[in-house]
Amino acid sequence: MKTLIITGASKGIGLETARLFLAHGYRVINFSRTPAPLDTIENHYIDLSQPGAEKSLRELLDKIIDPSQITLVHNAARLTNDTADATPTSAFRDIMEINVMAPHILNQIIIPRMTQGSSVIYIGSTLSEKAVANSYSYVVSKHAIVGMMKATCQDLSGKQIHTTCICPGFTDTEMLRTHVGENEEVIDAISAMSTFGRLVRPDEIASTIRFAAENPVLNGAVIHANLGQIES
Ligand SMILES: NC(=O)c1ccc[n+]([C@@H]2O[C@H](COP(=O)([O-])OP(=O)(O)OC[C@H]3O[C@@H](n4cnc5c(N)ncnc54)[C@H](OP(=O)(O)O)[C@@H]3O)[C@@H](O)[C@H]2O)c1
Repeated sequence: MKTLIITGASKGIGLETARLFLAHGYRVINFSRTPAPLDTIENHYIDLSQPGAEKSLRELLDKIIDPSQITLVHNAARLTNDTADATPTSAFRDIMEINVMAPHILNQIIIPRMTQGSSVIYIGSTLSEKAVANSYSYVVSKHAIVGMMKATCQDLSGKQIHTTCICPGFTDTEMLRTHVGENEEVIDAISAMSTFGRLVRPDEIASTIRFAAENPVLNGAVIHANLGQIES
């Protein structure tokens, strides 16, 4: 049976991705702090920002994963408001733990168990290839994710395992709404920044993730899924 292993499927883009892969017959394993609200998902509760997560993840995955066709989706992330000149190191490290170290750790444990046809899908951001003010740690981490994806592509050459980085635009999830303080005027302004005049739906990103997982021709690609952002 094909398996999806995903971080952060308790809500938002991760939940819609889990739902879609379940509908296509995958076994779905989720790592997050709270459960995904679908009883057919295998939920494992873990705080990926804790440095001790590696030992628990390895012990657990040793028990539940055999070599097989796996899609690994690095989705969980945190977005904070901070700047290049005033971010405490501990806060920066915290973001790196979940946004960068967790994908690294899961790669070490899971890629050796991947058979041909498997894939590693990274979730980047528009901020994987550009920066805006006041999102310092997130911008750094999302640029790192593109580097990790490109290195994954090169290092897995010949193994018939592919990798892609999907970069969502403004997507209607808790992360975005919390970031803008649930302010509908800001949501409207952000929506107007796309050529379609609306936010991306989480299920649209889920479909893009599945397309990437099923199409090895996209190996090494950075895909922007954002409805076309209006350039100023
Ligand atoms: N929404 C957007 O506009 C947008 C734009 C560009 C890129 N993205 C990217 O898309 C991905 C998904 O974002 P989203 O908008 O769907 O966010 P979301 O609705 O806030 O969901 C984030 C997920 O990450 C999990 N998570 C957060 N901290 C965690 C931790 N310490 N340990 C384990 N799991 C943790 C959460 O689960 P628990 O709370 O249950 O732990 C949740 O399932 C992220 O990589 C994000 O950077 C989003």
